[in-house]
Amino acid sequence: PVPVVAIDGPSASGKGTVAALVAEALGFAHLDSGALYRIVALSAMRKGVALEDEPAVAALAAGLPARFEGGRVLLDGDDVTDEIRSETCSVGASRVAVLPQVRDALFWRQRAYRSGAGVVAEGRDMGSVVFPDAELKIFLTASVEARAERRYKQLIGKGMAASMIDLLKDLHERDARDSQRAVAPLKQCEDAALLDTSELTVQQAVDFVVERAAG
Ligand code: CDP
Repeated sequence: PVPVVAIDGPSASGKGTVAALVAEALGFAHLDSGALYRIVALSAMRKGVALEDEPAVAALAAGLPARFEGGRVLLDGDDVTDEIRSETCSVGASRVAVLPQVRDALFWRQRAYRSGAGVVAEGRDMGSVVFPDAELKIFLTASVEARAERRYKQLIGKGMAASMIDLLKDLHERDARDSQRAVAPLKQCEDAALLDTSELTVQQAVDFVVERAAG
């Protein structure tokens, strides 16, 4: 069997950074499931499909012409790496992510990552729904203050405006939406190891996962 490391956690917890580095360290593929929801939202918006139109959005998700190549994300051959990180795509992703038919359409595409040496899959429901059989499950989180501070530094570092008050409010709202939604709510699986990165460096978080994956 192909080993799977499932990493789930809330918004801005640093899952993406940790998952990418763990995948590199283990020589595994990296599945960023949040990016899939973001691409579905972008694709729907580009095609003029209403984000509430469940069958139409699910059809797009089932035939999504998206590729991940060397850290870049391509939609119909068009580089959308930066665009899918925009606020519009974040909001769009959270709207399409509550549609069961969309989640079903993406299920097999995500399962298909289970090939080769192994996969590090990150998202909200990797351990609970997509890879319940994963060899290693991690619930990666950090305090809302730590997450807001990291995002603040990121934005300031890019020369963008940022407000801690707004970031905190936004994260509280996202957490509530993610954990209270009816479909695939974010929760820690019973068999997942808790990794709270509030006081950890990226390298310490990566080591925590790699050590467990190796042992
Ligand atoms: O970390 P952040 O919430 O900014 O972004 P993300 O992880 O890329 O997720 C984008 C959206 O997709 C969020 O609204 C998640 O709730 C949703 N998502 C999901 O429902 N299931 C997944 N496996 C991954 C993301």
